[in-house]
Amino acid sequence: MKTIQVNTGRPYRIQIGSGLLDQAPALIAQAYGDRRPRLAVITDDTVDQFYGDHLTALLERAGYPVCKFVFPHGEQSKNLQTVHAVYGFLSENGITRTDVMVALGGGVVGDLAGFAAATWLRSVDFIQIPTTFLSMIDSSVGGKTGVDIPQGKNLVGAFWQPSLVICDPSTLDTLPAVYFSDGIAEAVKYGAILDDSLFRLFEEGRLREQLTEVIARCIDLKRLVVEQDERDTGLRQQLNFGHTFGHAIEKQAQFTITHGQGVAIGMVLISHASERAGLTPSGTADRIRSCLWQYGLPTSTDYPIGLLCQNAMGDKKRSGSKIKLVVLERIGQATLHPVDTDRLLSFMTEESDA
Ligand code: NAD
Ligand code: GLY
Repeated sequence: MKTIQVNTGRPYRIQIGSGLLDQAPALIAQAYGDRRPRLAVITDDTVDQFYGDHLTALLERAGYPVCKFVFPHGEQSKNLQTVHAVYGFLSENGITRTDVMVALGGGVVGDLAGFAAATWLRSVDFIQIPTTFLSMIDSSVGGKTGVDIPQGKNLVGAFWQPSLVICDPSTLDTLPAVYFSDGIAEAVKYGAILDDSLFRLFEEGRLREQLTEVIARCIDLKRLVVEQDERDTGLRQQLNFGHTFGHAIEKQAQFTITHGQGVAIGMVLISHASERAGLTPSGTADRIRSCLWQYGLPTSTDYPIGLLCQNAMGDKKRSGSKIKLVVLERIGQATLHPVDTDRLLSFMTEESDA
């Protein structure tokens, strides 16, 4: 088992290791001592079929009172209606401030349950048990929680760090390939913005052979960033590489395109534009495209760039009349590049006159 300590305002441990789900009661006991808080497990219907009953049985056997809420899988559930249903469930089960919520599932479950935990009774503890590659390396770490509203993705949320993360790569055995690829987009992102050797490992197709090490490396990279900028005011925004247009594509496709697919296309789009603007070495976008391609990720879209720029105006990275784009200075190093919103379309389409 590998342990990564995250020193945010509320510090916590991330435990990584194959088979760790079975050790959840012991890991929770390490975090909470002799106390046996009531555990409110939140999961989706797919994850529930594989791991829901198994986890609740383990926890009950260890003496924890457990209740479980299951909602339909998919991004379409990541909204305030589902959060209201969770509040109803927490109320019915008498969940108090000394109890703990447990998010068992992918990024949708983690973001939604985390937001419910951040807001129920003005915050209760929550534990993340991520079961997708994406949620292991990204969404379960760093405390961003939230839901989508019709105006855009993740527009309502809160920063609320988990009290423990239990990351068991063996749960990925049941994850369909398309969702595994989603996580690869975020992993390639870490390499592109922070670690050129990690990027080369992906380029060389060595991800599967070093899966647990890659998960731990990605988590550690995110830890480094989040510890320096927990509230997303500077450095952390680099983690949004590919996300401005990724979110715009997801929204335009009414979430029929997954988050990872959107991010994959977004990284290629922005890198082409920043190459044209002379900010990124030429050939970078093609390297990213080839890398993503070998993992079956899409790298282009038929949506007109004008439409995507309009969608991007609602992005969280916008502040006043500027939108902060994340561009690569080279593979392994990123920077924020503010662009006037009325210049966004020309930035994305025009050749540099420099
Ligand atoms: P997801 O949670 O929708 O999971 C994908 C699918 O896989 C779902 O149908 C789920 O039921 C199924 N599944 C999950 N684990 C499984 C398993 N082990 N076996 C079989 N099926 C399984 O999607 P995701 O890619 O994990 O997360 C995407 C979400 O994460 C988006 O909403 C995105 O905005 C969010 N996100 C948040 C952050 C953050 O920092 N909070 C970062 C990146 C992404
Ligand atoms: N996934 C972006 C962040 O956590 O900041």
